[in-house]
Amino acid sequence: MPRSSVVSRLRQRLAERNRRTFATLPTPLTRLADRTDTPIWIKRDDLIGPWMGGNKVRKLEFLIGDALARDADTLLTVGAAQSNHARITAGVGAMIGLPTHLVLGGPATRPEGNQLLAQLFGATTHHPGTDDWGELEAFQQALAQRLVDQGRRPYTIPVGGSTAVGALGFVAAFDELMAQCCASGFIPDVVVHASSTGGTHAGLLAGQACYRADGWATPDIVAISVAKTGADLARGAEQLASEALALLDLADVPLPSSAVRVDSSWLGTAYAEPTKAGDEALLFAARSSGILLDRVYTAKAFAACRALVEGQQWGRDAHVVFWHTGGNVALFSAGGVPPAPSSTAAYPQETTIRRVPGATA
Ligand SMILES: Cc1ncc(COP(=O)(O)O)c(C=O)c1O
Repeated sequence: MPRSSVVSRLRQRLAERNRRTFATLPTPLTRLADRTDTPIWIKRDDLIGPWMGGNKVRKLEFLIGDALARDADTLLTVGAAQSNHARITAGVGAMIGLPTHLVLGGPATRPEGNQLLAQLFGATTHHPGTDDWGELEAFQQALAQRLVDQGRRPYTIPVGGSTAVGALGFVAAFDELMAQCCASGFIPDVVVHASSTGGTHAGLLAGQACYRADGWATPDIVAISVAKTGADLARGAEQLASEALALLDLADVPLPSSAVRVDSSWLGTAYAEPTKAGDEALLFAARSSGILLDRVYTAKAFAACRALVEGQQWGRDAHVVFWHTGGNVALFSAGGVPPAPSSTAAYPQETTIRRVPGATA
């Protein structure tokens, strides 16, 4: 087989899929500020373009392409109280002119962070008053049926947009990263990213499998679980990755289970419960490089990434890519920012504020 055969088939199949483009691609790939001693590249999906960014924009390009091809006239999704995916779906709905319904976890409270923006985009939010995923999904299904009964044609998107169609966004993203890295003269050794519903991980795995099938050296992909046990997440991501390959008519591309790496040791007590390591990583990124992370997803993943780099598992000169999947809007919700050591300088003793004679203050 010629060297680029699977990757060129992949590109052709992706180009044939229904897709509505929203993102500004490629997203930047930047080195963490050089004055820090951690050689990490950051893939900036927080700067992906509309609706204040995040990985879900990539998935929604393919999901919305599918929705429009099916003549849907309403969007319906489900998420946690501070769901980034729900906020971005609401933004998409506003852009393409489709009413959007969001089923959200937690109690109905004064909207802030992601919920505030979702409402600003005009989405209708539903609050069944539970955090139980089974109950939220049952509510979503019942709502979909109610909409059908009212004569609507809803397109129902599961939590995190993690279907095989949604994962295509990250199959394309893997190809984008490889092209960017090659243009910069390196192939990454490892890609680290936050994972909760597994769609991001699945897409990256499928893309990696295609490159590997063509004989490329490919980066290890390490998913940092912020929601589930490693085994559950790995099983789901592997399944979704093979479904994504099948959708692209690439089911013959091998997807070894050994490539599916999930680390759930950074999760802490539960999803959305901050950890000390995550908070430290968040403050480090903000203060050393001006990069904003969030306590639910990217701070935990970045803490893991720094530890992996320090452990030098991939060697001192490894090219490590941290995939910044967004999430910054949650900073503007209750408890979204960790208590930070103050950096406000005290006024030096000799600094006194003198009134200008005659000024009225
Ligand atoms: C900011 C952020 N990072 C990472 C993830 C995880 O992505 P996935 O659900 O595809 O595993 C999410 C999804 O909820 C997210 O909002």
